[in-house]
Amino acid sequence: MAKDVAEKQSPEHVAIIMDGNGRWAQQRGRPRLFGHHAGAKRVREIVSACPEIGVKYVTIFAFSTENWKRTQTEVAGLMRLFQRYIQREAQDLLDNGVCVRFIGDRVKLDSKLVTMMDNLELSTAHNTRVHLTIALNYGGRDEVTRAAQRLAYEVEQGRLSYKDVDAETLAKFLDTHVLPDPDLVIRTSGEARISNFLLWQSAYAEYEFVDTLWPDFTAEEFAEIVARFGTRERRFGAVAV
Ligand code: FPP
Repeated sequence: MAKDVAEKQSPEHVAIIMDGNGRWAQQRGRPRLFGHHAGAKRVREIVSACPEIGVKYVTIFAFSTENWKRTQTEVAGLMRLFQRYIQREAQDLLDNGVCVRFIGDRVKLDSKLVTMMDNLELSTAHNTRVHLTIALNYGGRDEVTRAAQRLAYEVEQGRLSYKDVDAETLAKFLDTHVLPDPDLVIRTSGEARISNFLLWQSAYAEYEFVDTLWPDFTAEEFAEIVARFGTRERRFGAVAV
């Protein structure tokens, strides 16, 4: 622990709540989906910037379990956009050493999209330069609930004792079980909320809330925030030495 206190370093894992697409489009008198398309371009830029900035894992909140409440037009448009993103970016992600994973509940998603997600995960599984995780139909409470259900099933089947249930065991049932916890969570657009994103995993994360709307969020601003993180002192509940 003392080592963590003393070291000032780049965040290994940055999680991003990409907010403000709707307002960005509205400011231009355009439909909300116009903002989401502009937002998708930023995803490409930010992921590409990760190696140079020294970020190994980046996790982005693309669609929450609550986003189904939006209009049918917006939801359908977003789903089409995710398919288009996979189609257009798959080869580049593969060639640039990006390992892609999806977290969230796939049950409610269109089977064609799920197949595309599975294929992208499979084709990029051997990549190690950057780990991109896309949260799609993701909610932190939903994830913990699904993990608890699977854990309870293991106990019911006699493969696990209730006495074995601790934080480490539960974490193994989360969608993120192969990922390190995020060190830094960024939210764009001036809103200072977590919105059900990586609730368990962000227990010790630092937060940065920036006013920039997601379609305006550049690699330069990303690099500045990451550099600022290096000057913060993380104590993980310990006392500064
Ligand atoms: C929040 O902005 C954004 C979303 C709900 C969708 C995020 C999706 C993208 C950035 C599209 C591309 C993603 C991938 C993976 C290709 P908002 O619509 O809530 O904005 P507002 O608060 O201004 O209305």
